[in-house]
Amino acid sequence: MATIDLLLVDARIATLRPDGTDYGIIEPGAVAVCDGRIAWLGPQQDLPTTPARETRSLDGRWITPALIDCHTHLVFGGDRAAEFERRLQGASYEQIAAAGGGILTTVQATRAASADDLFAAAMPRVQALAASGVATIEIKSGYGLDIANELKMLEVARRLGAASGLTVATTLLAAHAVPPEYRDDVDGYVDLICEELLPAVAEKNLADAVDAYCESFAFSSEQVARVFAKAQSLGLPLKLHADQLSDLGGAELAARFSALSADHLEYSSAAGIKALADSGTVAVLLPGAFLTLRETQQPPVALLRDHGVPIAVATDCNPGTSPLCSLPEAMALAARVFGLTPAECLAGTTREAARALGLAADRGTLEPGKRADIAVWDIEHPRDLCYWLGVRPLSHLLIAGRDINLTAS
Ligand code: NIG
Ligand code: FE
Repeated sequence: MATIDLLLVDARIATLRPDGTDYGIIEPGAVAVCDGRIAWLGPQQDLPTTPARETRSLDGRWITPALIDCHTHLVFGGDRAAEFERRLQGASYEQIAAAGGGILTTVQATRAASADDLFAAAMPRVQALAASGVATIEIKSGYGLDIANELKMLEVARRLGAASGLTVATTLLAAHAVPPEYRDDVDGYVDLICEELLPAVAEKNLADAVDAYCESFAFSSEQVARVFAKAQSLGLPLKLHADQLSDLGGAELAARFSALSADHLEYSSAAGIKALADSGTVAVLLPGAFLTLRETQQPPVALLRDHGVPIAVATDCNPGTSPLCSLPEAMALAARVFGLTPAECLAGTTREAARALGLAADRGTLEPGKRADIAVWDIEHPRDLCYWLGVRPLSHLLIAGRDINLTAS
């Protein structure tokens, strides 16, 4: 090993390596970082005697892979607190959407906002996620719904990554809702996505993946299949909002296209879950949206486990269905409402979340060769991350081996 840039000693390590144990614990352990990557990691007693530029004792603190929020819509204009209140007075999400509210309210506000406004509004959400232990965030478009505004959203997402020091993975979600201009011509909007928007996004390298919302008041599976086929021909990986409010065969559709992930899945059938297992597609569970919509249909967790489908957990941070900017809180909710174990929740926000973004080779576990994205926690055991609500257990966050300044209040 060449000279070590940073040596972390006296740590308790949850590697999250898929070695059959829940957390992959090494205690007491040490980690050596070179050039932003993990060069060595293991029991403290086996530490090689290579010189280090900086050695830091963690005084027995726990470290895990930095968290990964693999599903957010955190770039948007305005908010939907008034809609939230209306829903609590009895109106349903579908009714509000059918009447031109819901996502379209945010579309109006997002179109009216400048890129700088969107950036300024989104940055505190990014900082709040970082302060909760997150180093990698996926951000979707989907509130622009025309060429200029979808591009604007993706550019803002890229800027957020560059300015924050976090990794931002961008996803084009133009097929999120039918824009008002195309209310009577949904296929015309799908044509616009396929013929103009997708080629423009690919040409500018603005999206790392493509997503769609397959739902009765959004896009049919045939329309999503057209978007997916075009995206695939441009080499873009796929994700899908699948079976959130009804079973339209979303899980099967995601599997048919070998999507990286199928997200929500409350109404997925047994056949859909089997298809996900066969295609290696990650199931992303979103307890914030489930709770905010006061859903009662649980995602089929037992089936996911039985079939060995990898399970990720994300915030779904968005103004309509999940105003949530803390990934440990999403874990705590997933444990309570979906019955995931604390180990599943932590794997779901590290190893499996990396896989849901196609980044598993680079991050998501603590292993030699992976990026030194490391969360340091003031906790007694990794299970504590799901136990407390309303505390911030993060001590500090290293991204590519460097301390990140957590400026969120
Ligand atoms: O993941 N399901 C669709 N998309 C978002 C909600 C977006 C919104 O309501 O603004 C979701 O829940
Ligand atoms: Fe979503």
